[in-house]
Amino acid sequence: MSSSVQPGRVLLVGAGPGPVDLMTVRAMRAVQGAGALLYDALCSEEAVALAPPGCIRIQTGKRAGKPSMTQHEINRIMLRLARRGLRVVRLKGGDPSIFGRVGEEAAFLSAYGIATEMVPGVTAACAAAAQFGFPLTHRGQARRVVFTTARVENGAVVGDWRSGADAEATIAIYMGGEAAPDLAKALVTAGRATSTPVAVIERAGAADARLTTTSLGTLTSGPVPTCGGPVLIVVGEVAALAQDQTSKAVERLRDWA
Ligand SMILES: C[S@@+](CC[C@H](N)C(=O)[O-])C[C@H]1O[C@@H](n2cnc3c(N)ncnc32)[C@H](O)[C@@H]1O
Repeated sequence: MSSSVQPGRVLLVGAGPGPVDLMTVRAMRAVQGAGALLYDALCSEEAVALAPPGCIRIQTGKRAGKPSMTQHEINRIMLRLARRGLRVVRLKGGDPSIFGRVGEEAAFLSAYGIATEMVPGVTAACAAAAQFGFPLTHRGQARRVVFTTARVENGAVVGDWRSGADAEATIAIYMGGEAAPDLAKALVTAGRATSTPVAVIERAGAADARLTTTSLGTLTSGPVPTCGGPVLIVVGEVAALAQDQTSKAVERLRDWA
């Protein structure tokens, strides 16, 4: 690094679920002022298009059959660009602090003396709740919200799911599409009622978002069919309140399976 170049800062920014009107003003300004933009596959084209002409744009996620970059590659690129004095924006879908690996990135950059700042975004669970008209907490029904994900090994969900038996907890499951049946079994084994309502939301925030409602018992027998978009699963009494506001795309699959 040339001694005359001041290392740039890296902004770790949440893009929200897609539409730019669901980005925070701070997030929009960050992208509009970026000298370099590294963005995930879940970031919308609209959000990326906010970057100014001349901004270096790097797509880090899986696209067009190409594998995603490794976390190490992403870290090194951010470091290199920041050392050139650029204002680097690392744009992530939803909120960067929720399954966004933001802690690892901040720690890596900090170890090299690069300052970071986080800009929050609307996470998928909040976008889904708003779009399909259900609360994540609800007086007398849901006092807690758990943001979680599931890892399956040899057909069983890894980890301790006993807290999932809590009937007053809303469980928002990220990256759980394939693991959903095993996860549902783990929750039932833990003591959660099979009648517990479940909402499966695909592409929350988008105009073509899809809602499927089912029950925990039904979910144990197979994943809800989806169209390939990102999927969030919400387990809890509040899921019974989910409804398609347009009443078109809704699929009620209580009898499915
Ligand atoms: C790596 S995590 C990132 C989560 C993101 N940081 C957030 O706060 O929403 C990716 C997972 O989030 C969920 N997700 C992200 N965007 C979504 C959306 N628009 N609709 C439904 N689920 C979404 C899916 O479970 C997806 O597999």
